[in-house]
Amino acid sequence: MVIASISLLRLELNVAGEGVAVSRIVLVTGGGYGLGKAVAARFRSGGDAVIIVGRNVDRLAGTATEIGARAIPCDATDARQVARMADELGADLDVVVNVAGGNTDFDQPDPHGTDLDQVAAAWRANLDANLLSAVLTTTAVLDKLRPGGSIINIGSIGAEYASTSYGAAKAALAAWTAGLSSTAGTRGLTANLIAPGYIGETDFFRGKLSEQRRTALINATHNKRAGQPTDIAETAYFLASDGARHITGQTVHVNGGAHTTR
Ligand SMILES: NC(=O)c1ccc[n+]([C@@H]2O[C@H](COP(=O)([O-])OP(=O)(O)OC[C@H]3O[C@@H](n4cnc5c(N)ncnc54)[C@H](OP(=O)(O)O)[C@@H]3O)[C@@H](O)[C@H]2O)c1
Repeated sequence: MVIASISLLRLELNVAGEGVAVSRIVLVTGGGYGLGKAVAARFRSGGDAVIIVGRNVDRLAGTATEIGARAIPCDATDARQVARMADELGADLDVVVNVAGGNTDFDQPDPHGTDLDQVAAAWRANLDANLLSAVLTTTAVLDKLRPGGSIINIGSIGAEYASTSYGAAKAALAAWTAGLSSTAGTRGLTANLIAPGYIGETDFFRGKLSEQRRTALINATHNKRAGQPTDIAETAYFLASDGARHITGQTVHVNGGAHTTR
């Protein structure tokens, strides 16, 4: 009975050699809003200590207060800021969920044009936001992750149709995650990528998703609904659980059937 209720907590031996439960320490980049906030809240509700990272200091602080997390402001694409964030974290970590990212083409003047300077800027922005952010954060905290821990990256269904810099960046993230799994495995860690389909209730589309496009995205699913942030949060929570220790190096699609693997 007791074992079941503590199965998601770490067990450590006390001075008497008895196993005692201690809460895990979980880092969520992009934890101030959207999917990251839902992921952070899920781990908190499971009893874990959670640290959230983001660039918008006020929003990050508000979310930290709301869900009972610790906030560390940091741009995950900036090597120096990531190094400082890692220094502030403390010695140990159990789970890192790299959620920070998004399609930076929404902020570019002409990402699909023919001006090569603009094309280069657009591709670099998406590679920074979606690939480098996870690479820098994971590299900075790898030595802190205790055996039994997990690395979880957030990709996208867009990687399956990688005609844009966003899709290509997420495809690269998936490839890197699969390779990372072999390094992680020797440390007793798992490394997986969750690839969401269309998820509502986020700021991903920056208010630029037309009703027609939204309907098309929902119609492409088998269950005819938008994904919810909790769909991703529950999947991340499972991948970090004791029951998922033999799942590593995988892309886990969460999209209502909009993309199937067969
Ligand atoms: N929503 C969808 O339909 C969907 C589908 C597939 C994949 N995804 C992926 O899911 C992830 C989360 O997106 P979302 O839908 O939750 O979008 P969102 O509502 O815009 O949230 C993005 C979060 O990431 C943070 N962030 C972005 N860049 C960052 C950086 N450089 N450093 C630190 N934090 C950063 C943002 O906070 P700050 O602005 O404060 O930094 C924000 O908290 C992204 O990787 C996205 O590509 C989303």
